[in-house]
Amino acid sequence: MPLNQPSQAEGDFVLRGDVVYSGDPLTLRAFPDAFLVCRAGKSAGVFTRLPAEYSGLPLEDRRGKLILPGLTDLHIHAPQFGFRALGMDLELLDWLEKRAFPEEAKFSDPSYARLAYGLFTEAVRRGPGTRLCVFATIHPEATMILQDLLEESGLVSLVGKVSMDRNCPASLREEQGTVETWLALSAERKYRNTGPILTPRFIPSCGDDLLRSLGKLARSRDLPVQSHLSENRREIAWVRELCPASAHYAGAYRDFDLFGGGIPTIMAHCVWPEEGELQLIRERGVYVAHCPQSNTNIGSGIAPARRLLNRGIPVGLGSDVAGGIHSSIFRAMGDAIQVSKLRKALAESSAGAPAGTAAGAPIGEDDLRPLGLEEAFWMGSAGGGAFFNTGSFEEGKEFDCLVIDDADLAAPFPLSLRDRLERTVYLSEDRHIQAKYVRGKRIL
Ligand code: GUN
Ligand code: FE
Repeated sequence: MPLNQPSQAEGDFVLRGDVVYSGDPLTLRAFPDAFLVCRAGKSAGVFTRLPAEYSGLPLEDRRGKLILPGLTDLHIHAPQFGFRALGMDLELLDWLEKRAFPEEAKFSDPSYARLAYGLFTEAVRRGPGTRLCVFATIHPEATMILQDLLEESGLVSLVGKVSMDRNCPASLREEQGTVETWLALSAERKYRNTGPILTPRFIPSCGDDLLRSLGKLARSRDLPVQSHLSENRREIAWVRELCPASAHYAGAYRDFDLFGGGIPTIMAHCVWPEEGELQLIRERGVYVAHCPQSNTNIGSGIAPARRLLNRGIPVGLGSDVAGGIHSSIFRAMGDAIQVSKLRKALAESSAGAPAGTAAGAPIGEDDLRPLGLEEAFWMGSAGGGAFFNTGSFEEGKEFDCLVIDDADLAAPFPLSLRDRLERTVYLSEDRHIQAKYVRGKRIL
C-alpha cells in the first residue's frame, strides 16, 4: 500500500542491462540486455526493444550488470545496530533485559543518538535496501535525529518512536503524551521520504491504557502500526498471563485495534502462530516480517514461512538487527532458505519435535517444503516492497533499483541470469552495488 507518495517527478530515464525481478512468489522475470524505463519516479516497464516513445529519454548503459529491484527491510531496530553480533548467547527475554534495554536507555542523550544513528544510517544507505521499517527508542528527540538522517540518506523509511510503559527499566517508561509530541515534531519537518509508524514494542511492555490510546491514534490519524508477535515460547506464555481475556497473542493486539483491518500493520516473527492467529492475520491483511537470522540467534525457533505463504498471508523479510547480525536483506533471503530446510529436517527427525506444532496450528501437507530462491527473493523484494508499492518493475511500481556489478562472482562456466541472482543473494557484498535508485532518484 502506498504510504509515502512521491510528491514530484524524479526524472525520466532508461536503464539498459540484465534485468531480473519477481513476478510472483514462484516466478522470476529475467530479461538479458533489456531496457527498464523510469517515468516520474515509477516503473514504466521492462522492454527487450526500447519503444519509440522512450527513445528520447536519457539512457544509462549498464550492459553486463544485473539490474534488480531495491530490497525492503520490514523490521529493524536502529538503536541496536551498535551492539550487533554481541550477546548472542542469550534468549529473547534475557537478551532484552541484559543487552537491548541498557543500550536503548543511552538514547536519552542526543549526542549519543547522533553518533549511533549516524553509523546505522550509513550502513543501510550503502546496503541493498531502499525501504525500511524501523524501531527507534522511546525518546522523541533521538527519534527525530534518526528521521533527519534517514531523510538525508534518500532512503524511504517508516520510523517508530517506540512505546513501552511496563516490565522495563524506569528510564525506558514512556510518559503520557509523548507519542503526540513526537508526531507533531515529525509533521513539522515535512519530510518527503520519512513517515511515522506507531510502535508499541510488544504486549509485555505495554499496559492496556497505552495500547488503547495507540489503537485510537492509528484510526483517527490513519497511521500504520508495527510490533512483534508470537516470537518466543516464554514470551507467548507471558502474554497469555497478561491478557487472559484475549483469544491469543494476535487477538490481544486486535482487541486494542492494533491489528490491520484498514490499519497498515507489520508484525515481526510469528514463529509459533496458533491456527486462530493465522486466520486473523490473513483476514486483517497484516504483513508478517520473517526474520530468520534473529530467530536463530536469540533462540526463538524457525518461523513457518512456507505455511504463511500457503495461507496467502503477505510476508516480507526483516533483518531484525540486533537480534539479527546482518542488515542486508540478501543475507535474510539466504537465511530464510537455509532455515526452511532445517525446519523440514527437524520435523521429519524422530528425535526432534515438529517445529511449530506446539501452539496447535496443523501442518499442511505442503507446509514443510523448503523455500527456494524464487520465494526468498520475492519476500525480500516484491513481498515486503508491497507495503510501500515497490519491489518489482511492474508498470506503476515506485522505481527502486539496484545495479549490481557481479563480474567478480563469475564461474568457469556460463551462468544464467537466475544463477547470477542466486550468487548475488549468497555472495554479494555492498561493494558490488554500483548504483542505487530510490523513487527514480540515484542515491548511491
Ligand atoms: N520483542 C520486543 N522487543 C524486541 C526486540 O527489540 N527485538 C526482538 N527481536 N524482539 C523483541
Ligand atoms: Fe524486533
